[in-house]
Amino acid sequence: MDRIEIIRPDDWHLHVRDGEMLKAVLPISARLFGRAIIMPNLVPPVRDLDDLRAYRGRIEAAVPKGSGFRPLMTLYLTETTDPADIRNGTASGELTAVKLYPAGATTNSDAGVKDFKRVHKVLEAMQEAGIPLLVHGEVVDPDVDIFDREAVFIERVLAPLIRDFPALRIVMEHITTEEGASFVSGTGENVAATITPQHLLINRNDIFRGGIRPHFYCLPIAKRESHRLALRKAATSGNAKFFLGTDSAPHPVGNKECACGCAGIFNAPVTMPCLAQVFEDEGALDRLEAFTSLNGPAFYRLPPNEDRIVLARTAPDEAIFRAIDVGADGQVVVFRPDVPFRWSVEKA
Ligand code: DOR
Ligand code: ZN
Repeated sequence: MDRIEIIRPDDWHLHVRDGEMLKAVLPISARLFGRAIIMPNLVPPVRDLDDLRAYRGRIEAAVPKGSGFRPLMTLYLTETTDPADIRNGTASGELTAVKLYPAGATTNSDAGVKDFKRVHKVLEAMQEAGIPLLVHGEVVDPDVDIFDREAVFIERVLAPLIRDFPALRIVMEHITTEEGASFVSGTGENVAATITPQHLLINRNDIFRGGIRPHFYCLPIAKRESHRLALRKAATSGNAKFFLGTDSAPHPVGNKECACGCAGIFNAPVTMPCLAQVFEDEGALDRLEAFTSLNGPAFYRLPPNEDRIVLARTAPDEAIFRAIDVGADGQVVVFRPDVPFRWSVEKA
């Protein structure tokens, strides 16, 4: 098999930012993906339907002519989110999901949730409306080791949340651990997970190999090898609960390569070469389409995209690894793990 044709993929977790950065990075995702769930962690965040409409307008203006790309919009859950926004956004079809950041967990999460009792009314409205809650699954307790924050979150926050809202539709975003994968596998139909390309390709040793590698730093941070292997198994298993969310998260190079660098890996230009490599190495190329193009739409109750893309077994053009110019912000460095790349996108 030197060429594979698959239904056009979707990205179920994407950061496209705003302003110059938005204009530079959005066309890269719009060329490949039919749809993407747009993360709301702007400064200030996308807090209500007015913010959401304005942001959607700026995104649509950045979509290249002729592209059929559709942004799927989310709200940022705060302790003052109005349940009416959930009902109205569902009724109008403008709202696809709501993002939960525990306050302080990651980039631009300060407006997130501290006290879960304060968002009960919103969660009830979401459960009623069938709107998925997208969870950044890490505790913020500074006493918990950074490598344990996901597993502890499952125990302390996620399991009780599911007990209180048994019909709430939940996506555990960017799982990074064996515990995350097995929790999601073992829970009801209403709980799914996204997995990023980087967590299938790097482990925590890679972040420190030969020196500190800021472009391998994201949150949740990559864990030890056994976790990477568990994620590869989950992603390539064909289990419909697991689907692609790239978490492509661009930061200007100066904000990554500095004394206190930002979390976030920019993988949009290399998503498919990365994934084809992983699925081929796992002997599961026949399940790539389920992960990138079928399982996500099924969970979100949307039809799969109608057209197809073609991947070819040829080393990708070096140009895809070139840093992207983002105007006054400088450049964004593209994710490049130390693996041979044998697949490229022939037609998107
Ligand atoms: O690495 C990350 N970067 N993790 C997140 O949760 C947020 C993201 C960002 O916005 O840069
Ligand atoms: Zn993210």
